[in-house]
Amino acid sequence: MIAKICLHICLLMLFFSEVSSQGCGDLRVQLSTTNTNILERLKSKMRTNLPLQCLSDMREFIATQVILKEIQKSLEDNPVVAIHEIFQQIIGIFNQNLTETAWDENSMAAFQIELHQQIQHLGTCSNTEMENDIPSPRAQNVQLTRLRVKRYFQRIDNFLKEKQHSLCAWDVVQLEIKQCLLLVGRLTNWIPN
Ligand SMILES: *[C@@H]1O[C@H](CO)[C@@H](O)[C@H](O)[C@H]1NC(C)=O
Repeated sequence: MIAKICLHICLLMLFFSEVSSQGCGDLRVQLSTTNTNILERLKSKMRTNLPLQCLSDMREFIATQVILKEIQKSLEDNPVVAIHEIFQQIIGIFNQNLTETAWDENSMAAFQIELHQQIQHLGTCSNTEMENDIPSPRAQNVQLTRLRVKRYFQRIDNFLKEKQHSLCAWDVVQLEIKQCLLLVGRLTNWIPN
């Protein structure tokens, strides 16, 4: 047990030291590599087709979900902050009851470590943009971006809870997160060089 805990911690430290040694000049490239990895990990745990019995859940979800396309424009204004918040929210979603899904402890740990290390890296590469306490219009705009992302994920969170983390609910949610990661891929193009 102790050995297992040590292994996890050691792995974590290894990942963090590896990332913190990377510079910020290649943020776009590095981010899109990470995003592809995360997307592949997610896809490997998803069912290929949404089963018929999940269609009504899907309809219910779509009826109330914030449409990604509608918030995309405002996320493009602050791509780094948007991606930072999106990754944090995804970790929150996947910290919930996964018993019905194909995820096991180790694959989820690897998925979350990759998200965590990217969050750290985004933080170190954009300090001025994110830790801006001065109430300038720019800071307000950044806050608004975070708020939009939070609202989007709040609906996903509610849906999972309403459906008591059923497999259908997770199918629907993971399809949505996949769309969200595809959006992250597009947002990386908006990060200034
Ligand atoms: C997790 O969700 C499953 C399926 O809804 C449920 O049977 C189980 O009791 C839940 N576990 C916890 C710890 O909430």
